[in-house]
Amino acid sequence: MITGGAGFIGSHVVRLFVNKYPDYRIVNLDALTYAGNLENLEDVKDKPNYIFEKGDITDETRITELFEQYRFDGIIHLAAESHVDRSISNPLAFVRTNVLGTVTLLNIARQFWGTDKQGKLFYHVSTDEVYGSLGETGFFTEETPYDPRSPYSASKASSDHFVNAYYHTYGLPVIMSNCSNNYGSHHFPEKLIPLMINNIKNSKPLPVYGKGENVRDWLFVEDHARAIDTIFHKGKVGEKYNIGGFNEWKNIDIVNLLCSIMDKKLGRAAGDSAKLITYVTDRPGHDMRYAIDATRLNEELGWKPSLQFEEGLEKTVDWYLQHEEWINHVTSGDYQHYYDDLYAKR
Ligand code: NAD
Ligand code: DAU
Repeated sequence: MITGGAGFIGSHVVRLFVNKYPDYRIVNLDALTYAGNLENLEDVKDKPNYIFEKGDITDETRITELFEQYRFDGIIHLAAESHVDRSISNPLAFVRTNVLGTVTLLNIARQFWGTDKQGKLFYHVSTDEVYGSLGETGFFTEETPYDPRSPYSASKASSDHFVNAYYHTYGLPVIMSNCSNNYGSHHFPEKLIPLMINNIKNSKPLPVYGKGENVRDWLFVEDHARAIDTIFHKGKVGEKYNIGGFNEWKNIDIVNLLCSIMDKKLGRAAGDSAKLITYVTDRPGHDMRYAIDATRLNEELGWKPSLQFEEGLEKTVDWYLQHEEWINHVTSGDYQHYYDDLYAKR
């Protein structure tokens, strides 16, 4: 079972597993919130080893029924509320899905797997944000103490602690990874990169929070999916692995790079799109810098990122320009209310 498989990263994980492992039966469990979109999986939806089940991870009855029906032996858990800005306006939704939903899954897995845990694995997908915010130097390692600052990262940190607790207390076979910022196709345009691509295309203001000097460590989403595959199959039970691109960028530098890539692609004069950059009020509690040390994953399991950022960003821009219908669907309806509400206040 892959939870959250209709979302951004989940859909890449589903696609990789369905295509690479024809002998696995992959059940994608997703509640289809605003962030879940079955159009993300058009290319695999008819494969014989793929099944979609709509359901909420907090719904104990529904999840129990699915366990009874499919007898899962592996879970890759990605379903979550994932956007920091939304967590600031509605923290409880994050506690509900990220904490309560994760514990519901852990409980049911424990109940079904009982004493025969051979060949079973609960893989929890988490974030580097649990480690807090870095100054100008240093990296997050697997030993960095947790220090979450936003309701989103606090809820993910809480879920990580529960996953560890189920390993130590009940011997549930778990594994966890904490990844840095992802980018790539099918990314919902509430997040920095797809939001800027969409606004540049539509000549709308480009809202840069604060001074644009916050730093994130960007990883191509297909590299994250490959890392999950590697850890799921080769990782050590009870361990955690950091995943990152060794690829730090200030937000303003990314926005400028996107502007120059898109000026060329849209046939605009150099510098045209950058005129849309608008500095807006900062995100409350805005973490300054994230940077992942992914040495363990590289040295122990042999994973490394495959793409240079500039190349990945250009591929991403091309995907958005070629998928106008996808972007139109996800930005219709509620998205406009969300956007107007959040950005009008800034
Ligand atoms: P996303 O918001 O794009 O997708 C989340 C998916 O979960 C959606 O399909 C949604 O419908 C589903 N979902 C939400 N609540 C649910 C519920 N109660 N029951 C069932 N399904 C539910 O998120 P994403 O960016 O793909 O992130 C996936 C996971 O990876 C999350 O756990 C996130 O914390 C983690 N992560 C994300 C990033 C990143 O850069 N996006 C980086 C590191 C880790
Ligand atoms: O680090 C991993 C995390 O990365 C994941 O766990 C989260 O699910 C994911 O959303 C992401 O969190 P961020 O807060 O880093 O991503 P976001 O795209 O929202 O913002 C990236 C940076 O860009 C951040 O410093 C805030 C800034 N920003 C964002 C938006 C949406 C802007 O300046 N303007 C914007 O309009």
